[in-house]
Formats: sequence, structure tokens, C-alpha cells
Amino acid sequence: MFTTAIAENPNHPAALPNDLFAAIEVLKKDLNAIVLAHYYQDSDIQDIADYIGDSLGLAQKAAATNADVIVFAGVHFMAETAKILNPNKLVLLPDLEAGCSLADSCPPLEFAAFKAANPDCIVISYINCTAEIKAMSDIICTSSNAVKIVQQIPEDRPIIFAPDKNLGRYVMEQTGRNLLLWQGSCIVHETFSEKKIVQLKIEHPEAEFIAHPECEPQVLKHASYIGSTTALLKYTQNNESKKYIVATEPGIIHQMKKATPAKEYIPAPAMNNCACNECPHMRLNTLEKLYLAMKNKTPEIILPPEIQAAALKPIQKMLELSA
Ligand code: 13P
Ligand code: SF4
Repeated sequence: MFTTAIAENPNHPAALPNDLFAAIEVLKKDLNAIVLAHYYQDSDIQDIADYIGDSLGLAQKAAATNADVIVFAGVHFMAETAKILNPNKLVLLPDLEAGCSLADSCPPLEFAAFKAANPDCIVISYINCTAEIKAMSDIICTSSNAVKIVQQIPEDRPIIFAPDKNLGRYVMEQTGRNLLLWQGSCIVHETFSEKKIVQLKIEHPEAEFIAHPECEPQVLKHASYIGSTTALLKYTQNNESKKYIVATEPGIIHQMKKATPAKEYIPAPAMNNCACNECPHMRLNTLEKLYLAMKNKTPEIILPPEIQAAALKPIQKMLELSA
């Protein structure tokens, strides 16, 4: 019975190779594939990746790769960005259900109405949005270049900033610009408890509290450093502190520990006693699904050609402005 089930279903767990790491390395060569991973992925996925980065780094890597196949270990909007930059390449996402609460908080029809009601505005959208929203935007930004990009817009030009209200508010503070904010947010970065963070800071007075700009203002106000995932990682490498309280998805701590093993990292706690600081969308990808995606060359990202073409322009604009 059991062997029949395996024979009939090559994706059956018992049919997986014993050494998934080695099997994935073989598939990378066979397919001429590159594995791109975000820091919020499970540690084993980060360890098999050819490149690990924040959203900007991943987009830049996707734009530059010579690989025939891009295996994207991240969420749907990131893989979509890679596909938009590489319309003729096969872009695989290990689990197509790996979405994003922030991208979901900006439905295209409602956003189109918001944009139509503010026709003088230039539209700057955070990369954490769907391809449809990108197609309606003038420039894309990420958490690492949002301030720099807004600073390059003429002072007299009104700006719509979507979809993250928390990043938008942070950019307003940093630039002194008034932005018309879409009221979206990320469930993970809104889960951190200000009260518990303040308690942790009292318990660990030697620790530095560092945070991602998707966090809420009452959390950000306690941070000694705010930055994208790559910026947070670099900060812990270059800063003298030996201990950090980290307010972003705790997957990043894997790279922090690898880079500076002697330092201590405390994940910022969620309001409830849950693991809600882990992104449920990112964590849908597993090493097994990544292997199967490569072996079966599916699930693949496919976008309507007109959306793909319209979304390319604001992404290219971002890459130009970030160079
Ligand atoms: P960065 O990759 O720009 O740090 O953003 C984090 C994030 O929320 C990705 O979903
Ligand atoms: Fe989206 Fe938040 Fe998950 Fe990032 S951490 S993918 S913004 S839900």
C-alpha cells in the first residue's frame, strides 16, 4: 500500500531525497537556476540560497542574473517583481499561497479610485504591493530607499504613498514632506508590544533596540536605529554593542548570529504570547516545497502581459534612483 502511494505520487514525503541540500544543488546546476531568499525565510532555506537580501537587494539581484530559472524563496509580490524584471524567464515560488498582509491591504479597484480622486499626485508605492498596484504607480520604493526616493521628488509635487502607513509616516518624519498615505499595514510589524519592549530594555540596559520602519510609531520611538532588514544586519555588524533587541521578523536573526556569533539577539516580543512575530506567509515556503518546485518546474509566476509591462516602468525608475 505504502510503496504504491509513493509510486503514484512522486511528491509523497517518503519519495523525497534524504539529502535535500545536495539534491537542490544538483537541480540548480541542471536548470541553471539561482535561489534568491529573503531574510524572513527559514534558516535552512537561507542556507541553500545563492543570495539572501532585503527587498531592494533581491530586486537588484533578479535584474542582474544570468540564470535561466529564478527560484524565489520569499512572498508572492517579490517573485512577481522578479518576473516583471525577467518576463522570459521561469520564476518559481515554492508555495503560491505565500502572500503578504500588507499587499492585501491595498485592493487594486479601491486604489484606482483613491488615485483618481487625487490626480495631481505622483504615486510612490512600497514594493510590498501587487503587480496591479505597481502598474498604477510612478515609482516603486523599498524600506531601504523610500526616504532617498521621496527626497528626489520636487517640493511642489504632492505624493501618494502606498500601501504602508507606518513606513509612510516614518518617511514623512525623515523628509519633512507631507504624504497622502494609503492606510495599509503589515500584521507582523504591528504585533510588537511597546510595553514588553520597554520592559526588555529595562531588563537589558546594555542592549540596543533596533527596528524595521514597518513597525508602529509607538514602537519606533524607542529605537536607537531604524532600517531595512539589510540595514539592521549591517548595523549589528558594525556597531559596538554586544546585545540587540530586534523588532522585525526573527528570521533575520539567523544571519545576525552567523555574522557575529559572539553577540546576543533578542527577538522583540508580540503582544500576545504567540509566535505572531513570524510572518505566516513567508513561513509557508519550506525546503521540501523548494525542492519540489525545482524538480517539477512549478508553481510558476505568470502575469498578464499588460500588467507586466506597466509594472516594469516604476520598478526600473526605482532601480535608476537607487543606483
Ligand atoms: P525589507 O526587505 O525591505 O527589509 O522589507 C521587509 C519586509 O517586510 C519584506 O516583506
Ligand atoms: Fe508582508 Fe509583513 Fe510578511 Fe513582510 S512580514 S511579507 S510585509 S506580511
